[in-house]
Amino acid sequence: MNTPPSLTEARPYMTTLATELIKSGAIRTRPWTRAFGDVPRHLFVPRWLRQDQDHRGITVWREHHGATTDEDLAAVYSDQTLVTALDPDTAEQFDDGAWTGIPVSSSTLPSLMVRMLEDLRIADGHRVLEIGTGTGYNAALLSARLGADLVHSVEIDPELVAAARRHLAAAGFAPHVLAGDGTLGHPEGGTFDRIIATCSVPSVPAAWIEQSRPGTILVTDIALGVEGGLVRLKVDDRGRAVGRFTTTAGRFMAARSDAKRYPPRHRPEPAPEAGTLPSSVAAADIRAHYPFRLLLSVSLPEAELVYHLDEAGTTALQIQDPEGSWARIPLAGDAARTVTYGGDPRLWARVDSAWQWWCAAGRPSHDAFTYTREADGRAYASHAPTGARWSLPRP
Ligand SMILES: C[S@@+](CC[C@H](N)C(=O)[O-])C[C@H]1O[C@@H](n2cnc3c(N)ncnc32)[C@H](O)[C@@H]1O
Repeated sequence: MNTPPSLTEARPYMTTLATELIKSGAIRTRPWTRAFGDVPRHLFVPRWLRQDQDHRGITVWREHHGATTDEDLAAVYSDQTLVTALDPDTAEQFDDGAWTGIPVSSSTLPSLMVRMLEDLRIADGHRVLEIGTGTGYNAALLSARLGADLVHSVEIDPELVAAARRHLAAAGFAPHVLAGDGTLGHPEGGTFDRIIATCSVPSVPAAWIEQSRPGTILVTDIALGVEGGLVRLKVDDRGRAVGRFTTTAGRFMAARSDAKRYPPRHRPEPAPEAGTLPSSVAAADIRAHYPFRLLLSVSLPEAELVYHLDEAGTTALQIQDPEGSWARIPLAGDAARTVTYGGDPRLWARVDSAWQWWCAAGRPSHDAFTYTREADGRAYASHAPTGARWSLPRP
C-alpha cells in the first residue's frame, strides 16, 4: 500500500481495535463503540514517532509518515500511544529519521482515552471542554458522540491547533478548537457539563471550577512529584470538587505554559552523603505497588522519585526534596534494605512510615483515596476508612 488508506481499507483495522477495547473492558457502552467506529485514527497521525531503543537502552523516536503500509496501519490501530512532537530543546537527531528527546504531544493510548471518556459519564446534550487537543483524535471522538458544536478543545501550541483542525476537517468534524493555555480553561466558552484534561496538572486550576456548573464532572491527571493519578471529581453548588482517584490508572505529559517546550528544572545542589539507615520498605516494593507510590506522592508532595546510577553501576531508587536532601535504596542485592542518605534523615523516615501505614491499612488500592479541592483552592487527599488526610500544596 503506497497511498494513504481509504476508509474502506482502514475499516477492518478500526473494527479490530474497537473489538479489543470492548474485550479488555475499556469500552463499556454502545455510544463509545459507535464513536470508535466513526473516527479513523490514521487521519489524526499523518506523522508519528515510534518508540525504539538504541544498543545502550536510550529511547529513540523513529519517524513514520502516515499509515502507508499494512504494518503502519496495524500500529496506528493498535492500543498504543503515538508520539507526534518532541520538545525542540531536547530533540536531537539520532540517525536518518530518528530523534531522542522528550515528547510534548501524542495521540493518547486508545484504551486510556476511552476509559476516561467512559469515566466522564457523558450524556446527550452535554457541553464538554477538553484541555490538550493534541492530534484532535479525542475531540473527534467527543464530536462523534455529542455533535461537534458541543465540543470545545484548547491546545497550547498554535501549530498543533492548526494541524488538529486539518485532521478534524479530513474526518468530517468541526468542534471548537482554540489556541491557549488550557489551565485557564476557555473563559469565553461559558460553563461546561464535563471537563477532561489530557495533560496533567499539579492541582485543579481555579478556572476549571469557575467554568463548571453544580454537577459538572471533571477528569484529569493530578501529577505530584513522586507519582500521580487520574481523578474523577464532581463539582458541587459551592464550588467544591470531590472524587476518587479512578480505577483507570494512567499518566499524562504535564501541562506547560510555553507552546513548544518544558522549562528547565531547577534542582538544588544535593546535600553531601551523611550515612546509612535501615529500611522496612525495599525498592522492589515501591516499584511494584502503584497505590503505595500514590500514597507517597500525597505524603511527600514536594519530593521526587528518580532512578540513580552510581559509578559502580548500582541502580537505586532515590527520593529527593527541594532542599537538596536525598535518600536512595538499591534496586537489588545485599543492601536492598539499606538506605544511603544526604541531608535530612527524616526524608526516608517519612517513606518508611508511609509504607507502614499502607501495610497496616490493608494495602488500599489507588481508588480507595479521595481527592478534594475546596472552593478556596485548598486541596487534600484522604482515605475514608481510616480517616487519614494529607494536605496538598496550593498552586
Ligand atoms: C497527550 S497530548 C493530547 C492528546 C490528545 N487529546 C489527542 O487525542 O491526540 C497532550 C497535549 O496537551 C498539550 N498541552 C500541554 N500543556 C497545555 C496547556 N497548558 N494547555 C493546553 N494544552 C496543553 C500538549 O501540547 C499536547 O498536545
